Amino acid sequence: MPRKSTPPASTSENPDFYYPSRDVVRKAHVKDWEKLRKKALDDPLAFWEERAKELDWYKPWTKVLEDSKAPFYEWFVGGKTNVILNALDRHMRDARKNKLALIWEGENGDQVTMSYYRLRQEVNKFANVLKSMGVRKGDRVTIYMGRIPELIIAMLATVKIGAVHSVVYGGFSTEALAERIEDARSRVLVTCDGAWLRGKTVNLKEIANEAVGRSGYVEHVITVQRTGQDVEMVTGRDYWYHDLMALPIASPKCETEQMDAEDPMFILYTSGTTGRPKGVLHTHGGYQVHISATLKYVFDMKDEDRWWCAADPGWITGHSYIVYGPLILGATSFMYEGGPDYPYPDRWWKMVEEYGITIMYTAPTAIRGLMRFGESWPERHDISSLRLLGTVGEPINPEAWRWYHRVIGRGECPIMDTWWQTETGGHMITPLPSAPLKPGSGTKPFPGVDMDVVRDDGSSCGPNEEGRLVIKNPWPGMLRTVYGDPDRYIEQYWSFFKEQGWYMTGDSAKKDEDGYFWIIGRLDDVIKVAGYRLGTAEVESALVSHPAVSEAAVIGVPDEVKGNVIHAFCILTAGAGKPGEDALKKHVRSEMGPIAVPAHIEFVDSLPKTRSGKIMRRVLRARAMGEDEGDLSTLAD
Ligand code: WT7
Repeated sequence: MPRKSTPPASTSENPDFYYPSRDVVRKAHVKDWEKLRKKALDDPLAFWEERAKELDWYKPWTKVLEDSKAPFYEWFVGGKTNVILNALDRHMRDARKNKLALIWEGENGDQVTMSYYRLRQEVNKFANVLKSMGVRKGDRVTIYMGRIPELIIAMLATVKIGAVHSVVYGGFSTEALAERIEDARSRVLVTCDGAWLRGKTVNLKEIANEAVGRSGYVEHVITVQRTGQDVEMVTGRDYWYHDLMALPIASPKCETEQMDAEDPMFILYTSGTTGRPKGVLHTHGGYQVHISATLKYVFDMKDEDRWWCAADPGWITGHSYIVYGPLILGATSFMYEGGPDYPYPDRWWKMVEEYGITIMYTAPTAIRGLMRFGESWPERHDISSLRLLGTVGEPINPEAWRWYHRVIGRGECPIMDTWWQTETGGHMITPLPSAPLKPGSGTKPFPGVDMDVVRDDGSSCGPNEEGRLVIKNPWPGMLRTVYGDPDRYIEQYWSFFKEQGWYMTGDSAKKDEDGYFWIIGRLDDVIKVAGYRLGTAEVESALVSHPAVSEAAVIGVPDEVKGNVIHAFCILTAGAGKPGEDALKKHVRSEMGPIAVPAHIEFVDSLPKTRSGKIMRRVLRARAMGEDEGDLSTLAD
């Protein structure tokens, strides 16, 4: 096992650590991780303010943080800006305008490259199209597409004119999309005919049509042609993207709307403990500061890099680190449309070689999936351009970490294991390249961020004692509210440690004797399946929407590749025949999407509940795993 044996003089020799090479440290933006952490934590506001000064503002702020209305914090108060000013407009001043902003490869081999100049032209054109459809400042635009450049263009164009996007992941299905359209009350939907996935096309437009029918707010649907498959277009409602972009209204000149730092920028729905998904709201000012600072320091972004964040723009990882972060830093990003193992398990490594990717960021589940195919696939390619690796979304098991480090990173590339959430906007616990690493730990909070693992009474846990992961001070990328439901914002995140004023993450974790954080998992009814966040309630309601199911409860059970998979327990409707397991899975797939499909479905006569009617998932978990069910004294019957 190649292990770098050049610890910085200040760190004691410890066999648990992987130390970065001198070369990595010498080139890094931040050469002394702990020193910067200490300095920033002494005065977080000064640290964030310095980062904000690296960006352009139409008008500077008068106050960095306004906390008088906590937990409704405000950042860079009085500042005027727009993320687009930093992501596109300011790059027109210098040679960066001719630099590649985006390199895209379709699963079928199609390629698109776009300079900053060209991307801005396309964004301006589409911004004018949106305006012509009546989209104004503050209006919500729902975007439901595959991983294609037009998805990015649609996001940027929306934000440019001061509207608010709600991107719904293309892997979601009818009910999930309908619910999100309804909650956001979007009058405009941008979608595409289909998407390529593993050699087949997914019919996104059909799902979009059905969802629009169910939700009833959408007046206009703009459809990008990607696959060319037959789709149903409704006269008066539906327009082709390419038709609109060819009209004179689609002029490449468009002023960027000057926004208040605290004006809404996007809503991103995420699963919570109960019922409907939460619309996590982010704003222009603080968000851009947080994501550009983290991307620069954590992934050490340089002008010559080729960055690949292999997430989907439909998730927060994609928003922050495919779309906005890299563009603000003027980086060159690579984006790929399809599945990682199509047509062969070397697809990713082939592209790393072909495009000379230098920094790669993905999820543990993808690493574990590709690891299964063996080392011979990456070995076919020269992937020595890679200099830094990253992971996100769920805990990475040390075995997968070591494989990623040794086989993909030649034992030389530091791995940035970044812990954060849709709600945090950007990285919160993460190493920087100069940090000593431990496989499976995200190390320590980012500079300026104060976090801890605490007991229910708020006292700090001792070394290696499991407790609640909390964030103790506000940070600029934080969510500002749950869209349309401020009470839920307070209740969900700020009520548990109300007295202390801490944000509760919903995760359990431990801190070891070196102060390194180890994430254990969710404490609430959220299940992470292959890194995707699913609420038990959403999956259960998809199951009971099948006529033969009267009640359902789902739990996560451990899986070697996906981290967790869903195990569903269903009670049949009286008099209904037992549906086939496949029929039920198909139903969940068409309501929620493939990520929500249970791996196992079990029919039962009753569900274990407490006397207050709460499902005892602990008992279900024990049953699914064939373990002892433990104390059943609180069971209702
Ligand atoms: C939850 C948030 C942040 C973008 C993708 C996920 C888990 C996230 C890690 C990590 C262990 C992690 C947590 C967190 N999580 N990153 N590096 N190590 N767990 O965003 O869908 O909002 O999910 O993902 O449980 O609370 P999300």
